[in-house]
Amino acid sequence: MPLKKKIVIIGCGPGSESYITPAARAAARQADVLIVSRRLKDLFPDVAVERIDSGTDVDGIIDTMAARREEGRQVVLLATGDPGIASLAQPVIRRFGREQCEVIPGISSVQVAFARLALDWQDVRIITACSLSPEAAAGDLKSAGKIAVLGGKEGAIRWTAELIPMLGGDRRVFLCEDLTLVNERIREVHPGRLREVPVPARAIVLIIERDLLP
Ligand SMILES: C[S@@+](CC[C@H](N)C(=O)[O-])C[C@H]1O[C@@H](n2cnc3c(N)ncnc32)[C@H](O)[C@@H]1O
Repeated sequence: MPLKKKIVIIGCGPGSESYITPAARAAARQADVLIVSRRLKDLFPDVAVERIDSGTDVDGIIDTMAARREEGRQVVLLATGDPGIASLAQPVIRRFGREQCEVIPGISSVQVAFARLALDWQDVRIITACSLSPEAAAGDLKSAGKIAVLGGKEGAIRWTAELIPMLGGDRRVFLCEDLTLVNERIREVHPGRLREVPVPARAIVLIIERDLLP
């Protein structure tokens, strides 16, 4: 029986090569198999090993990872940003167990968004749009001074535009697009106008109480 190696989960940053840590690069070089999303499929070109698209079938890809691991191969899962936010890391860790996984943190798009506003973020509420109805989310989020909504798809922006008036208070809205990439753009949007703004797939909406911005 080949020795089973830990599953390694690597945070790869928000997109730019310069936001990938040396620890992430070193861990990727140890891979026998890379599990990649569409966005990360060309990352680490010097790592010439089997690459498997993570696709949309979560149980299916975890079964594939388990099978490669049974063969004694080092399976490495690439996650965008940090694996701790909206990634495959949690279902993978649930399946293999914490002791059988090693997580290499990455720079999250949320971190970069707050850095661009020069604002601290220890109290941010991070949500993935479309996971709940805006009404349900608003009840829970009213007291949050800082909210980061992930998801640049049209449905997500509509969802966020409906959420904002339900939150009440005086809030400013910032669109953070293509962070760390050549097209990066940070702009303030009138809360009532968000719905009309075209947004790329890589976007975060920050909703910040006016008084919290220096
Ligand atoms: C599946 S989540 C993964 C988040 C990731 N784990 C992280 O820590 O950044 C994907 C969402 O992250 C945000 N995102 C990822 N990369 C981004 C970038 N370069 N610029 C803006 N938002 C980004 C977008 O909201 C996108 O829809």
